[in-house]
Amino acid sequence: MMSDSKIQFDAKIQKALTTRREKGLQRSTQVFSHFSDNRISLSTSNATAESTPYINFSSNDYLGLAREPELISAWQQGLNLYGCGSSASPTVTGLSMAHQSLQDKLCEWLGYPRAVLFNSGFSANQALLFTLLDKHDHLIQDKLNHASLMEAGMLSPAPMSRFKHNDMNDLSCKLAALSLSQAKLVVSEGVFSMDGDVAPLNELSHQCQKHQAWLAIDDAHGLGVLGASGAGVTELLGIKPNILIVTFGKAVGLSGAAILCDESTGEFLNQFARHYVYSTAMPPAQAYAISYAITMIQQQTWRREKLIELAEILHESLSTLSGYRVTNTAIKPLICGSSQQAIDLSSYLKQKGMWVGAIRPPTVPANSARLRITLSSCHSPQQVSRLTQEIIQYYQLNKKSRGHD
Ligand SMILES: Cc1ncc(COP(=O)(O)O)c(C=O)c1O
Repeated sequence: MMSDSKIQFDAKIQKALTTRREKGLQRSTQVFSHFSDNRISLSTSNATAESTPYINFSSNDYLGLAREPELISAWQQGLNLYGCGSSASPTVTGLSMAHQSLQDKLCEWLGYPRAVLFNSGFSANQALLFTLLDKHDHLIQDKLNHASLMEAGMLSPAPMSRFKHNDMNDLSCKLAALSLSQAKLVVSEGVFSMDGDVAPLNELSHQCQKHQAWLAIDDAHGLGVLGASGAGVTELLGIKPNILIVTFGKAVGLSGAAILCDESTGEFLNQFARHYVYSTAMPPAQAYAISYAITMIQQQTWRREKLIELAEILHESLSTLSGYRVTNTAIKPLICGSSQQAIDLSSYLKQKGMWVGAIRPPTVPANSARLRITLSSCHSPQQVSRLTQEIIQYYQLNKKSRGHD
């Protein structure tokens, strides 16, 4: 008997949506108006009316470049020079001088012979793991790695194991248990996106050398924020992994990504990475603007200094809360516990004019739902103080301080 696909798909879809709703894990996608600074407002059905603006403590625009007039002008200049789209894959006719100079700039800044551009960090991570690994190899990932890495690892033909977050003893044991003949790839984030902590790159590199494994670091959240020139966690800690993934949708203020690697790996990705070969190259004007943003990141050190100043203000007020996690990055998690606790605090802050997203499982482990507070150098010290005062006030009102004295 033929099955009715519509009934079957509908049943599957309804079941998944209902379960997600019942668990309180439903994500709602809001439409926002973004202002020239760090404020956002919810779009309303009335085209002329806008809701009250919120101060945005949820974006990854850590250096405030996304709406920076100087960078907007650079993108416009790129459009004048190169037009709108790249019109083809890089391997056909999609690679322009703007892409070429971005690749060169990345190589020089980050210290690698080759840079391969992708349209997103998600596709760069998938491309790397799908292209490099086969069933004879072994992939080892930090347990808290981003979904793009985890999913690519699960779908790749190589067996995958995961080590406890930032636990080098666990990594060492797992590496030691593998066959000497297997090629091994260890993958970690440089700055963990939901926790804001930094991977122990020295130790990771040591373990990889000891067990003759390759090390790949995804520094999506370190680039721009860490290191004297903003080159990220590898500059901060003076370690160069075999492969470095950087993304342009966070501190760089645009979108896209690159894999930095040696000559032959770069050539291998150019030849075989399907996300590279079979996808239209990013618009050349965007590549032009990314190069411009990199110069801003290198030269405008005040943006990183401002982030440090803001982080100190936040730390001074929140450090006695038991859920507060100390980080030296722009990501400041405040662990609430249950999804409902995180949603309640996030809703309270919204009423007070501040947007801080509640991050819930499965994005973070069970019982560690949190506010993911992100700082940006376009916040003012007063805005950060206001946020911390409201958080303290919330805990006092709700007697939920659990450790705040
Ligand atoms: C660590 C990490 N890697 C990769 C990505 C994906 O990057 P993109 O947003 O450019 O696809 C993200 C996005 O949040 C991330 O946090």
